[in-house]
Amino acid sequence: MKYFHIPVLLSEVLENLIKDINGIYIDTTFGSGGHSFGILNKISNQGKLFAFDQDQFAIIKNKICDKRIRFFNENFRNIQKILKAYKNNILKNVSGIIADLGVSSYQIDTPQRGFSIRFNKILDMRMDLSKQKSALNIIKNYSFEKLNKIFKKYGEFKNPQRISRKIVLNSKFINTTLDLVNLFKRNNNRKFLSRLFQALRIEVNDEINALKKLLKQSINILKPGGRLAIISYHSLEDRLVKNFFKSGNIQGIIKYDKKGKNLSPFNKKYTKRIFPTKEEITKNNRARSAILRITQKKVC
Ligand SMILES: C[S@@+](CC[C@H](N)C(=O)[O-])C[C@H]1O[C@@H](n2cnc3c(N)ncnc32)[C@H](O)[C@@H]1O
Repeated sequence: MKYFHIPVLLSEVLENLIKDINGIYIDTTFGSGGHSFGILNKISNQGKLFAFDQDQFAIIKNKICDKRIRFFNENFRNIQKILKAYKNNILKNVSGIIADLGVSSYQIDTPQRGFSIRFNKILDMRMDLSKQKSALNIIKNYSFEKLNKIFKKYGEFKNPQRISRKIVLNSKFINTTLDLVNLFKRNNNRKFLSRLFQALRIEVNDEINALKKLLKQSINILKPGGRLAIISYHSLEDRLVKNFFKSGNIQGIIKYDKKGKNLSPFNKKYTKRIFPTKEEITKNNRARSAILRITQKKVC
């Protein structure tokens, strides 16, 4: 199989996710199929894999021919509804879910998708090309206040006003990735630009809300003892995942019963955080910011 994208933390995901080789697994972010391919190699002939990706091209280009896999060209934010409509007995029967968040190398390296500062193309950044909202729509139509919000929240800029003001004043002249880069020539350092692009990408694809929806639904999809593995690439996502694993809710509020027992649906004993090794980062630079968190749904 030819990969456009080297799967991150593959052996760590497989080792911690697959505890039942006859089980049902879900890869919510199929991409180039690296994790899916690994799962199929590990499960038995009775095992099943459901693969989701909102990007039409991810599935068309990388489809794996194997009777155990079923593809859904869908956003994982609707996962429960989609699985329920497909087969009623999947919910509460899944042994493992993996989400490898963010964009794939295929998406970043395809110039016309407009994700990368390396190519001068129209600012697009949509993972799902059937959607209307692109990065360019945001640049042209968002108010100063709305831009401030996304740069603060998703780019974690302390003083986003200066960035938003510049964009609002120049929005007529911004069409491509390079137009945006040139506008911030003075701040032209990689870190600044990647946070700027990251904030726009998260807003275009509504990534944080989709992740929240996936996390909440995972409790209803996993069977007792089932595992949930999430690979995040920035602190915003990772914080959300960490708090959710601790508490079982998006707010991260740990609730206790009258006897002082933690009511989280997840088992603390099997909750862990794993970073890529130096060797992996040397081979695959994309892995450098990855954090894998794994948890297990309590058995009772
Ligand atoms: C980092 S890549 C996954 C790479 C994959 N694990 C592999 O080994 O090839 C993320 C993929 O998830 C998809 N994606 C991101 N958010 C999604 C969402 N909310 N619903 C469905 N797919 C999503 C993207 O389109 C992209 O193809």
